[in-house]
Amino acid sequence: MTAVPTRSPLPTGLRWSAATSAFQIEGARDVDGRGRSIWDEFLEAPGAITDASTADLACDSYRHPEADVALVAGLGLDRYRFSIPWARVQPDGRGTANTVALDHYSRFVDRLLEVDVVPFPTLYHWEMPSAVEADGGWLSRDTVERFADYAAIVVDSLGDRVAHWYTLNEPAMTTLQGYAVGALAPGRQLLFDALPTVHHQLLAHARAAQVIRSRASAQVGLVNNHTWVLPLNDTAEDRDAAALYDLIHNRVFSEPLLAGEYPDLAAWGLPAMPVQDGDLDAIRASIDFYGINFYNPTTVTAADASSPIPFDIVPTPGVPVTGFGPEWPIMPVALRDLLVDLHARHPLLPPVIIGENGASFPEPDRAARVEDADRIAYLAGHIAAVGEAIAAGVPVEEYTVWSLLDNWEWADGYTQRFGLVHVDFATGERTPKASYDWYRDLIAGARSAAAAREETR
Ligand code: BGC
Repeated sequence: MTAVPTRSPLPTGLRWSAATSAFQIEGARDVDGRGRSIWDEFLEAPGAITDASTADLACDSYRHPEADVALVAGLGLDRYRFSIPWARVQPDGRGTANTVALDHYSRFVDRLLEVDVVPFPTLYHWEMPSAVEADGGWLSRDTVERFADYAAIVVDSLGDRVAHWYTLNEPAMTTLQGYAVGALAPGRQLLFDALPTVHHQLLAHARAAQVIRSRASAQVGLVNNHTWVLPLNDTAEDRDAAALYDLIHNRVFSEPLLAGEYPDLAAWGLPAMPVQDGDLDAIRASIDFYGINFYNPTTVTAADASSPIPFDIVPTPGVPVTGFGPEWPIMPVALRDLLVDLHARHPLLPPVIIGENGASFPEPDRAARVEDADRIAYLAGHIAAVGEAIAAGVPVEEYTVWSLLDNWEWADGYTQRFGLVHVDFATGERTPKASYDWYRDLIAGARSAAAAREETR
């Protein structure tokens, strides 16, 4: 086990947050008129979920939102990132709102405000209503307006109290894992034919941003998953493989938002995006803050000529790994490097929010106090990396831990625990881990240091 650092260099002036997503914590899949989503379909496919679990109970957060708010308040967070599921609000993915569901999230927002925590909802954390997917999902341009209609409904209900919105969570994972290789819902295996889903998601985000700003005084962002791509060998083939992976994982999602254009896809033999007049202007003007979820670097090597994909993702040599094994190498400096690199490419970068960062480790299933020194080391290392990026001039304004709670980790079911709080999925019992206490103390320390600085001004 990694030694716990006694002191981590604390970036000054950061806001502190933790995140969850609805399907991963709520349970109550058949409650209050919720419609089916692509995850309800996906988890029923034989072999789709590692432990064949269903997220029926998860953390029982829909029935007991007060339990989550108490943990949020106990940490002393500035902000809390959670998601609102489209299929609860519009069970058929269009038309009249389900007011019972809206009232639930309205009460949840009130509870957060009562404990002085700023709500940061995400409108889409991967749960597309099955009815929208049946009409083409993110492959169809029509989904853009359907998403904007859904955004309007939610903003009309919460916009008097919510001033910060994430539209989409990690469109890259939806495109790559959901539509290209099928490891996540909706489980399509279209390889490079999945690329139109990039543009339709970015456009849906941009339309939702317009709708939100026209109905409320609010800041809007999107959160991209970023990775730092390393060639396995210093050869032209591996450098090309790494550049292509960087393009489809990072740049194709970041550059339209930050520079108003797609990278040169034709240079890689890739099809053009289905862009129409005005799309890129709308996308370029769409963010007040830029969310980055970071977990790990990705090491890439050139694939055999016979492979349908020209790169292979391989273990990153010489670094420790999380509970996922070699798939999830731990390399905090990669977060600093990617932030500094992004800022160099886009000097007018808007305020950056680290929207998720965290790690799973093997931990007991039954209720227990977990001394998770490995998670503390992971978080401390990445917070220090953020501090180094800020010192190098990158405008980072917030750091968010994934996750507040152990939860249902998508295709990995209950086998990967990411929480600051242990959850016994058989009983629902929540037990703060050592990392919860550590994060609480770190936030309190940062706040006192900031107050002391104010006094000496
Ligand atoms: C997602 C989370 C997920 C986490 C860990 C992120 O890609 O936004 O929903 O649980 O990674 O895999």
